[in-house]
Amino acid sequence: MTDRYAVIGNPVAHSKSPWIHGEFARATKQDIEYLRIEAPLDGFERTVEDFRKARGRGANVTLPFKEAAYRYSSELSAGARLAGAVNTLAFDSSEIRGENTDGSGLVRDLTVNLGFSIRGASILLLGAGGAARGILGPLADSGAAQILVANRTMARARELVQRIALPAVRACGYDELEGKAFDLVINATSTGLSDEPLEILPDVFRKEALAYELVYGRETQFLAVARKQGARTSDGIGMLVEQAADSFRLWRGVRPETAAVITALRKG
Ligand code: ATR
Repeated sequence: MTDRYAVIGNPVAHSKSPWIHGEFARATKQDIEYLRIEAPLDGFERTVEDFRKARGRGANVTLPFKEAAYRYSSELSAGARLAGAVNTLAFDSSEIRGENTDGSGLVRDLTVNLGFSIRGASILLLGAGGAARGILGPLADSGAAQILVANRTMARARELVQRIALPAVRACGYDELEGKAFDLVINATSTGLSDEPLEILPDVFRKEALAYELVYGRETQFLAVARKQGARTSDGIGMLVEQAADSFRLWRGVRPETAAVITALRKG
């Protein structure tokens, strides 16, 4: 019988995951079905239970349920534990395995698709919420010389940095950024979604720096400012596809090629 997977979120109507996994399945000749499930805000666990009973073998979890998925998992990967959030669930008869592929997806997009060398780089991470926490561990594991986590609320940046506890990772407030410059600046604040003004940026871009926005599909205020200041820019479409490929590998044991899928999504 065909194995079933799904993306579970709220809202989930615009998720590109069903299309992406459909392309992966076609390319790797895997016989799977991939659904889109909107869980009620107070009904994540119930929704997953029902899906498991209906032959569900795994799920991608998106906003606002990544923390709920973390609590629901019976077995957590090291990455998921560090992130405190799960974006991929895999079910077998007794265990619910929770993994987080957001960070590995970002690292792969940066290094393979965008040709950015994280090793030795000086990185500025803007934001200290769920999105920042999801990617900081894998970034820090990739050999950056320095990662500065800057947040509007400094205490939250400090808390996140303490969680990682690596000498190369430090916290700071936005007011300390003046005069500093980086090879890579990542916007993990929610301003990419809300379009609220992001109050920085002094010119924090080194020559040939890369500005990376986790949100995809449009030029956010952060990307517009970065472009005007001469940085190379990228939205998060590559990360979306790479995290999906990592989920697919976890479920099916084969990692699909991603380049054609990224190109197709960029064309819209
Ligand atoms: P997410 O899961 O998207 O990270 P979150 O946990 O609510 O959502 O975190 C939102 C992040 O965006 C936080 O780092 C927040 O900064 P504060 O901790 O100071 O609230 C940041 N953020 C939201 N609006 C912002 C704005 N207008 N300027 C700068 N940072 C902002």
